[in-house]
Amino acid sequence: MQRFQGKVVIVTGAASGIGEATARRFSDEGACVALVDRNEIPLANVAADLAKELTIAHVADVSESAATQAMVETVVRRFGRFDVMVNNAGIFEGGDPAEITDAQWRKVMATNLDGVFYGCRAALPHLEKTKGSIVNTASVSGLGGDWGMSPYNAAKGAVVNLTRALALDLGRKGVRINAVCPSLTRTGMTSDMMDDEELLTKFAERIPLGRVCEPDEIAAVIAFLASDDASFMTGANVTGDGGVSASNGQPPQQ
Ligand code: NAI
Repeated sequence: MQRFQGKVVIVTGAASGIGEATARRFSDEGACVALVDRNEIPLANVAADLAKELTIAHVADVSESAATQAMVETVVRRFGRFDVMVNNAGIFEGGDPAEITDAQWRKVMATNLDGVFYGCRAALPHLEKTKGSIVNTASVSGLGGDWGMSPYNAAKGAVVNLTRALALDLGRKGVRINAVCPSLTRTGMTSDMMDDEELLTKFAERIPLGRVCEPDEIAAVIAFLASDDASFMTGANVTGDGGVSASNGQPPQQ
């Protein structure tokens, strides 16, 4: 498929995991892709694999409003238009709520929530011109709670509802916005968990498809949501969770 030929896409958090897979997917489908991350060397390594004339690597911290604005301006200057914003960069913070520090709380909110809003706001004037779209990476952790993950749950829950609210405000401007809600996915963020057989077994028991997700599988959902194939979808929080959120929470009986 070449759904994005002539389109310009920004993917944040593109140096690793879901963002990397997403940047590769858009590139494979013919897009000009701006890969954004605060982690310079891995970002350059991913970008080096993609079509040279159609790719830029831009180092930025999405939790900084001015940096996010500059990111969009750089991309529009380089490619002359802007069609798809993928707000994907994210970090994890969790623990016993009584022990979570102010700094931990601010850190996760700054990237996982503020960064998503800054990305949407900076993209908007350009997406209005191209009737483009936004995809946010939320999480099943934004649809329900997890044990010991309150800051992350709060930030992702806010992204889920931000996506709905912006869909109302942007619809008449011709801009669609949706979110993908993955469950446990094999990425840099979860690499420690992937070596823990006991933990993976526990997860597999609660995932109807019986396994963790691969980043390409989320990239495919993101590309779908950004494409004209999803032309009547906006304000949706689409799960890519192997069926986790289909459960009411009761444990398996067999
Ligand atoms: P990852 O750690 O492999 O990749 C995240 C990338 O974001 C890294 O390259 C990191 O340098 C970059 N990043 C972090 N903070 C940044 C900032 N302030 N500015 C610019 N870049 C920044 O993690 P993964 O799993 O690929 O995460 C991508 C998104 O998927 C995140 O929003 C995460 O919360 C979400 N997610 C991940 C799940 C998983 O199980 N891996 C499940 C559900 C959602």
